[in-house]
Amino acid sequence: MTALPDKAFDSDHFRMVMGHFPTGVTVVTGRDAGGSPHGFTIGSFTSVSLDPPMVGFLPQIGSATWEAISASGSFCVNVLSDQQSDLCWKFAKSTNDASRFDGVKWHAAPLGSPILDRAVAWIDCAVEHVYDMGDHHFVLGRVKGLDADADHDGRPPEPLLFFKGTLGGFASEG
Ligand SMILES: Cc1cc2nc3c(=O)[nH]c(=O)nc-3n(C[C@H](O)[C@H](O)[C@H](O)COP(=O)(O)O)c2cc1C
Repeated sequence: MTALPDKAFDSDHFRMVMGHFPTGVTVVTGRDAGGSPHGFTIGSFTSVSLDPPMVGFLPQIGSATWEAISASGSFCVNVLSDQQSDLCWKFAKSTNDASRFDGVKWHAAPLGSPILDRAVAWIDCAVEHVYDMGDHHFVLGRVKGLDADADHDGRPPEPLLFFKGTLGGFASEG
């Protein structure tokens, strides 16, 4: 079916079709009021503006992680490598206690949010604005610090990709 009759919206079909758009995989991190780290797997990360430098992502309304970190006014986007598929699932599990960080090495970004060791890239942001859009927020962040390939001994890592519900790697065609 390609046409969309008004009354017959099928959310499973919507999800299935959207799953055909491949994305990178990020873990967005931050700190709660007590300083504890939080993070969740986010595919809806996007670059928004070069001047001023801004990026954004879309957490579901009611997200426990977003509610924990939003008051701090900052977050850090960690782009996962193809060696970090375990982190993709770990940070997407329904529990949102600090156990998502069990066994995960990290250090603090300039604004304090966790940078996961061996991420492909990290982008540290101050929250500029939060827009409500349907059942998600759009969080717009102003970039305050960023780097790529910093933790890989001069050998740039490959990114992790998500497509039709599964993870894979990137095959360059030159
Ligand atoms: C590859 C992938 C991408 C995801 N992208 C998003 C996203 O963009 N927004 C979102 O709200 N949840 C996304 N999720 C689901 C969340 O990671 C998951 O619901 C998580 O439990 C949310 O954390 P919270 O319960 O602490 O809020 C994604 C999950 C996966 C596996």
